Amino acid sequence: MLRGKTIVLGISGGIAAYKGAAICSKLVGAGANVHVIMTTSATKFITPLTLQTLSKNEVHIDTFDENNPQVVNHINLADHADLIVIAPATANTIGKLANGIADDMLSTTLLAATCPIVIAPAMNVHMYEHPAVVHNMKLLADRGAMFIDPGTGQLACGYVAKGRLAEPEEIVDALSRWFSKPQLLQGQSVLVTAGGTIERLDPVRYLTNDSSGKMGFAVAEAARALGADVTIVAGRTSAEPPPGIRLVRVESAAQMLEEVLARYEQSNIVIKSAAVADYRPVQRFGQKLKKSRGDVLHLELERTTDILQTLGEQKKTQILVGFAAETEDVEKYALDKLERKHCDFIVANDVSAEGAGFNGDTNIITIYNKQGIVERLPLLGKAQAAERLMNIVANRLQQIKDDSHDR
Ligand code: CTP
Repeated sequence: MLRGKTIVLGISGGIAAYKGAAICSKLVGAGANVHVIMTTSATKFITPLTLQTLSKNEVHIDTFDENNPQVVNHINLADHADLIVIAPATANTIGKLANGIADDMLSTTLLAATCPIVIAPAMNVHMYEHPAVVHNMKLLADRGAMFIDPGTGQLACGYVAKGRLAEPEEIVDALSRWFSKPQLLQGQSVLVTAGGTIERLDPVRYLTNDSSGKMGFAVAEAARALGADVTIVAGRTSAEPPPGIRLVRVESAAQMLEEVLARYEQSNIVIKSAAVADYRPVQRFGQKLKKSRGDVLHLELERTTDILQTLGEQKKTQILVGFAAETEDVEKYALDKLERKHCDFIVANDVSAEGAGFNGDTNIITIYNKQGIVERLPLLGKAQAAERLMNIVANRLQQIKDDSHDR
């Protein structure tokens, strides 16, 4: 998968810089054309000559070492790279990239790059956990950078903790996997809703549901793996959101509607996996409700706007996918929702079945379109179910494109 790929290997100045040699050698061995950029600090840990010998290319350190008058080095490298990997990435290099600082060859090339960027951090555990570093990594992940997490083990500073650069094999495997994915959704914008909404009753109480957000997050990851530009609009979730995917947090169905509508026009695919409240309290109390209101308290609820239905009514060329969580007559209700909400697909699951509940790691889904069942999937991990779903949706998009070319 790496054969013929142009990879820029950025090595920044930590003790793990020596592992850059093994990474470089493995990438070259796999057939990649590797161009190494080192920070000045990295050259204190390993010599440029080592990297030059292994990569068989000139090693770049100084932005102003412009020895080929035909090109501007950092732009040339950024333009030709299929991927840039920074390994090891120090807190300083991560901080510079997150904040748009370009004061050396590596940071300048990174700012000029439009290709995917993979970051393999390595540093002392306290540095890795410092709020500034955590914030910078999140910023970069939100912008689409991919991270290869450091491992846990003996650190050069004496700690036994998280912060060791991932092993060279692991880094090269991750890059190889990245190139092996068929990028069926390259250039497509995918909007995914996830989790449950919160409908507030008073400042400390709300109505919600059991949705964990796992299915929506898995769908978002599957879409990203196919090359899509993904945005998640998520309500309350208990699962960890996937790193590296743009995430917009909301509480209520009304907020979710607003955020989704704001992005609808520019989306090619919308997957509504959120469990949206159908009702919300008519009155939202400004102060905490007191029990002095009596032995029985009647709550009056009103319907929320059906987001999926609203999207269905405003649909232009988007592919719209709804979910139907049912406990009986799954197919009947699913097809009814598909029709009523003008969806292209409905993903139905019987939430009362073993392994298909709201909070688990597995799901049993059946995907319908207007013609009926597209695919009935067995009990699968949510990631696998999401992958299958996104492949079906991506193929549908391809079909639409092919049809419009034929016309
Ligand atoms: N949905 C929505 N907005 C709502 C309610 C539901 O967008 N206010 C979406 C969900 O995200 C899901 C689909 O509609 O994709 C079906 O949700 P579900 O709760 O199964 O169905 P409802 O439309 O609420 O219908 P019912 O109460 O009859 O089951």
